[in-house]
Amino acid sequence: MAQRPAGAPLPAPPRLPCGGRRPGAPRVIARHDSLPHRRTPAHPLRVGLIGFGKTGGSLVRLADQRDDIDVTWVVRRTAGAAGPGEADHPPVFSTSNTCARWLFANHPVDAVIDFSSPTGLEFYGDAAAAAGASIVNAVSAVERDAHTRFRRWSSRTRVLWSPNITLGINVMMLLAQTLRAVDPCADIEIVEEHFRGKRETSGTALRLADSLGVAAEAVKSVRAGGIVGTHEVIFGSDHQTVRLRHESISREAFADGALFAARQLQGRPNGLYRMEDLLVPYVDAVRYPGALTA
Ligand SMILES: NC(=O)c1ccc[n+]([C@@H]2O[C@H](COP(=O)([O-])OP(=O)(O)OC[C@H]3O[C@@H](n4cnc5c(N)ncnc54)[C@H](OP(=O)(O)O)[C@@H]3O)[C@@H](O)[C@H]2O)c1
Repeated sequence: MAQRPAGAPLPAPPRLPCGGRRPGAPRVIARHDSLPHRRTPAHPLRVGLIGFGKTGGSLVRLADQRDDIDVTWVVRRTAGAAGPGEADHPPVFSTSNTCARWLFANHPVDAVIDFSSPTGLEFYGDAAAAAGASIVNAVSAVERDAHTRFRRWSSRTRVLWSPNITLGINVMMLLAQTLRAVDPCADIEIVEEHFRGKRETSGTALRLADSLGVAAEAVKSVRAGGIVGTHEVIFGSDHQTVRLRHESISREAFADGALFAARQLQGRPNGLYRMEDLLVPYVDAVRYPGALTA
């Protein structure tokens, strides 16, 4: 990473969203475009999807609008069933009558995305690792022994597990940790809001708390009506308050994050990855625009 020598001028301000520029600022759009997922890929990324429920269905819909993603097949438990209201969808296989090794050999994919259940990985894990397909496991609550399997598979392919795979929440986690490092004395409050029927404390809020050294019992939960999901971290110091707030609008946010992860893992060395690992280069690119110059 490029270091700024003491006394050197600050780097140019980062690019504004949607291509806007501050007056007089240099164009950095070409550099931004050189970030991995912005490049126009030579071939669509071939994705095998495990789980064709609410979230898997939204991934198929989202991928359908993108030229750089091809959902090659879908696997679910039920035999003979299609997707949740999908009229036009990729071939759907069932774990009850499909051999995973046959599937990977005859319908190769670059990545597997798992939006099924804790048992889903038993079907595809060994076969995906043997085929060298990236594994993006987005099942929120995996069994304890899943991590042993992830480690084992990571010697043969790229493996990522993320219990909350939205880009927004993961960027927020990075920013929250940065703020805490900058101002370790600030008071930190974490508030999560969800629909009336959600009984347990949000797992995402608990992860945020853990990463910031806040006790789990200190997380404030609000339950009201149909709120999809809101997380807020409040940093309070004597002279200023900083609020980081993320609101989920639709399930497409999960699908978008999973597709981002699959695209980002492509071409990387085998190993275990977290969403943070894939996002840090973007944070660095903003702070050090020159770092991305070819
Ligand atoms: N990481 C994140 O940010 C995030 C976000 C949203 C959801 N999730 C997770 O994604 C998963 C799916 O959520 P959802 O709301 O879409 O659930 P859902 O609507 O109930 O759909 C689950 C789908 O997975 C399939 N399935 C379940 N067990 C399977 C197995 N062992 N092998 C193959 N397919 C299996 C089901 O097939 P059948 O219908 O044929 O039984 C169904 O198509 C959950 O684990 C949830 O925690 C994670």
